[in-house]
Amino acid sequence: MELVITDSAADAGVLAGRIMADHVRRGARAIGLATGSSPLGAYRELIRQYQAGDLSFAGVQAFLLDEYIGLPPGHPQSYAQFIRDEFTSHVDFTDENVHSPDGNAADIPAAAADYERSIAETGRISVQILGIGANGHIGFNEPGSSLRSRTRVKTLTPKTREDNARFFEDDLTQVPTHVLTQGLGTISDADHLLMIATGAGKADAVAAAVEGPLSAFCPASILQMHPHVTVIVDPAAAASLKAVDYYRFAVQNKPTWQTF
Ligand code: F6R
Repeated sequence: MELVITDSAADAGVLAGRIMADHVRRGARAIGLATGSSPLGAYRELIRQYQAGDLSFAGVQAFLLDEYIGLPPGHPQSYAQFIRDEFTSHVDFTDENVHSPDGNAADIPAAAADYERSIAETGRISVQILGIGANGHIGFNEPGSSLRSRTRVKTLTPKTREDNARFFEDDLTQVPTHVLTQGLGTISDADHLLMIATGAGKADAVAAAVEGPLSAFCPASILQMHPHVTVIVDPAAAASLKAVDYYRFAVQNKPTWQTF
């Protein structure tokens, strides 16, 4: 695991975007996208590179981590719509190449199985960008999630619903209670996991994920089992880490041949 502490949240986003762009330039067939606020800086960097003519997503498939159950198609906070608005419609992704679990399916377990199948049929996800919840969730794998779980229904914790109410006019009653999410096993199948966390509200969750015990109660601690992980944090999100000096030393002394 590589831990990079950037000077600012903006720098964290640019670095994450550059790493994703490198995967696309190297021929990624599929990339994994997250929603929420954490990846927005990375998406802005990808849009910038696309607009500069330096990057194309033609032929690349994208898979979202998760989707709310029961929001009507086109709802601005459905993750399928959110990713279109914030990222994919600003670059040359076609809508058919951007996949998300179907939170409106009549048969939700079948929709979960279909989603797993479509990822498997596409082949490997080269890079999966991840945010982290204040309670340590990734995707919507809330504390207690099986460390080998696959795409399935989860019930959101009250804390996550409160955190996400800001996207729903601060009205908790509008925040769905259930989601379809890639499991921790599904996420772990990606070649490179790229987590971005900024702000003091994420500091304890980042420390638990990176330096705490492997535990279903900190789902993001599954990153410790993956062979290729980059965690990018700003100073505020790094504030609870113990080995900050070592992480900085490792980045400063990185061999020139070693890429992300
Ligand atoms: C969203 C997702 C979630 C978020 C997490 C952090 O697709 O998978 O795990 O990454 O809830 O949300 P933000 O970035 O809004 O703080």
